[in-house]
Amino acid sequence: MRVLGINAAFHDHSSALVVDGNVVAAAEEERFTRRKHGKLPVPFSTWELPEESARWCLREAGLGPEDLDAVAYGYDPSLAPFDDGDVVANGWEGLRTLYAKRAPRFLETALPGLDPSSVRFIPHHVAHAASAYHAAPHERSSVLVLDGRGEHASSLAGRWDGRCLDVLSIQELPHSLGLLYEEATEHLGFRRASDEYKVMALASYGEPTFLPQLRDAVRTTGDGGFTIDRIDWATMTKPMHDGETWEPEHADLAASVQARLEEVLLELVRWLHAATGDAVLTMAGGVALNCVANSRIVRDGPFEEVWVQPAAGDSGTSLGAAMHVAHELGDHIEPMPGAALGRRWRDDEIEAWLRTARVPYSRPDDLPDAVGAALAEDAVVAWFQGRSEYGPRALGSRSLLADPTRAENLERLNDIKGREQFRPVAPMVMVDRAPDIFDGPIPSPYMLFTHRVRPGWSERIPAAVHVDGTARIQTVDPEREPLVARMLRSFERRSGVPVVINTSLNTAGRPMVDAPRDALECFGSAPVDVLAIGSFLVRRPTDTRRVG
Ligand SMILES: [Fe+2]
Repeated sequence: MRVLGINAAFHDHSSALVVDGNVVAAAEEERFTRRKHGKLPVPFSTWELPEESARWCLREAGLGPEDLDAVAYGYDPSLAPFDDGDVVANGWEGLRTLYAKRAPRFLETALPGLDPSSVRFIPHHVAHAASAYHAAPHERSSVLVLDGRGEHASSLAGRWDGRCLDVLSIQELPHSLGLLYEEATEHLGFRRASDEYKVMALASYGEPTFLPQLRDAVRTTGDGGFTIDRIDWATMTKPMHDGETWEPEHADLAASVQARLEEVLLELVRWLHAATGDAVLTMAGGVALNCVANSRIVRDGPFEEVWVQPAAGDSGTSLGAAMHVAHELGDHIEPMPGAALGRRWRDDEIEAWLRTARVPYSRPDDLPDAVGAALAEDAVVAWFQGRSEYGPRALGSRSLLADPTRAENLERLNDIKGREQFRPVAPMVMVDRAPDIFDGPIPSPYMLFTHRVRPGWSERIPAAVHVDGTARIQTVDPEREPLVARMLRSFERRSGVPVVINTSLNTAGRPMVDAPRDALECFGSAPVDVLAIGSFLVRRPTDTRRVG
């Protein structure tokens, strides 16, 4: 069966294609349109479809819209409470419902040949859940979904037994842990539904001094649900405005919200485990991108293993919806092979771009070794290799790399990217060496957990260690990522350290680089020393004196 998955109801709109139970392609629309998150998560944008990523998914498989057996749309407007045609109901939520209902017609217009009657609406949280249990390398699992909101709920807890999903609990709106975290994000001067990871990073600098107030306001109900009272954030700290420098009380608020989130999540997973007795927990939904909370669930929770969908936010619902429908149509669903599911370019295509840009380039005999050598000489390297990543993390396809042994490289990378100095950068490490250096669940291929750095190593890789002594690592398996592994080995031969800093290849506020043109734009505008793109190496001239 050929099933195209579509996410469009809120933001991070995306497409995914599942053919005969295998993920063939998956990508976020922002990588094509170059607009971060693709669109705003407001009702007025619900009609906007991930047209470019959908067309690319079909091209990648050599299919046309008429070849699809089904289209899976990761939101079910019939479940939305404002379904009577009143478009202004509840702050225009009725309009979202109307646009979602019309999605088959919009899709037919965007992708001529597509049969609008083949579109199936999948409940938003079922799409998130399927993106976890179908994509995970496990036959059966307990599944927990937590996000800002779906049609009428903000969470789903259940069990996938290998054949069907047994929903054990959902939490109705307005109670939402995702929206709680979004509110705190906004109060701290960051962009809500976008910058939540900054609150998580800031939390490490504070103490949870407001935890008693948040314990009063956010309570679990003992049945897999929770209630959240209206919170007046200003009674705790004054709001932070864009461009202001944070003060200790802001970090304390971030630490308090993070701490309460972790406590509630632990209670929810304990309840779920008591209900299922499963060994494995799979997770998705935007809250599952909180790698500090994920690590707490691993460390203090009852499950033996926790697997988190790398595209845990809404972008992952296109894949989950497609897998769900493919399963319903009788296909056996294979786990996702990794996160490198996006676009790729042949060397002749990349070389044509380099010629167009008129940049001098070389073709080293051993590119990963040349990059390892450049890193050991303290170059910052833009690494563009293979298929781009699905989800928000750079995982060795579109990465900025640097030497972690030099403490100043943290500030240097944040300067290159034009972002706040409290933001950490993360290390990649050979999977066989990871247990010597980091604790916690290993392998950890998707940067979804934080790991304590073992004694003796914090001083050796200071740029990669967060202020709280942890690192959000990516373990590299040489079988799955041979090029990255060779680069790491080359760097280790020269430095004695099997760790390299890996942060996303983009600058602040922009989507990750996806195409060669994006890479050249980024290299041309940011002080990156080397661009390793396909088989080619571009070095920034060391003599930058003005000429003429
Ligand atoms: Fe969601």
